[in-house]
Amino acid sequence: MAGVSRVFGKGRDTNVALENVDLDIEPGEFISVVGPSGCGKSTLLKMIAGLLGCSEGTITIGGEKLEGTRADIGLMFQTATLFPWRTVFDNIRLPFQVHRDKSVDVTAKVEEVLELVGLSGLQDRYPRQLSGGMQQRVALCRLLVSDPDLMLMDEPFGALDEFTRERLNIELARIAELEGKTTVFVTHNITEAIFLADRVVAMGTEPGRVLDVIDIDLPRPRESSMFTSPELIEKVQEVRKVLGLA
Ligand SMILES: Nc1ncnc2c1ncn2[C@@H]1O[C@H](COP(=O)(O)OP(=O)(O)OP(=O)(O)O)[C@@H](O)[C@H]1O
Ligand SMILES: [Mg+2]
Repeated sequence: MAGVSRVFGKGRDTNVALENVDLDIEPGEFISVVGPSGCGKSTLLKMIAGLLGCSEGTITIGGEKLEGTRADIGLMFQTATLFPWRTVFDNIRLPFQVHRDKSVDVTAKVEEVLELVGLSGLQDRYPRQLSGGMQQRVALCRLLVSDPDLMLMDEPFGALDEFTRERLNIELARIAELEGKTTVFVTHNITEAIFLADRVVAMGTEPGRVLDVIDIDLPRPRESSMFTSPELIEKVQEVRKVLGLA
């Protein structure tokens, strides 16, 4: 991603949502994007997803210029966008129906991802019979089952309580380490950003821009004890400083 900017509106209503972002993401890398509301995190993610064009600059993926959405990029949002009239199983197998891929054993694949997020045996339930955290796990299953090369997640755990968020952070870290998927994860939560990431992109507002990119050299696998480790707390302070927080 080189010299990427995005401007909304015209004349006096011009709003620079993102200014001159340069960012290279390595295959298999986990990138967290953190910053205050309105700094352009979702805009950045939508641009990488090919849902929004660049006003300036270019985004290339594997040497190819990005021009619209791609099947090998998976998205997940803050609220679980599950279909209420479909069971867990039918929600998760949706990507297969969309792409009409007959070569895979869908049932086995769905069971595999349910196991991965700790929801085995719940495939016949409906979303309303699940807690918010469980619904987000189902949404995560739907993302994983489509086996994307690049996972884009926009505050997927933002609506969850601290306990559930931490559990899902641990699960996501484990899954990311296991599957080695390239991931861009947007969050307001600095601890979550650091716990998950190889690098944290710290963003600022007016205009939306990248302030700094911080290497997170905490050991892997990431474990729950790290939430309170001195190394993580030190990183939190470093990121807070970049973000202009005390
Ligand atoms: N479709 C749009 N039309 C006009 N302005 C937009 C549009 N989308 C985003 N913006 C503006 O771009 C800026 C960045 O928005 P964006 O949604 O990317 O922020 P964000 O960092 O994701 O914030 P939050 O943490 O609240 O989700 C904001 O000023 C917003 O008003
Ligand atoms: Mg947003």
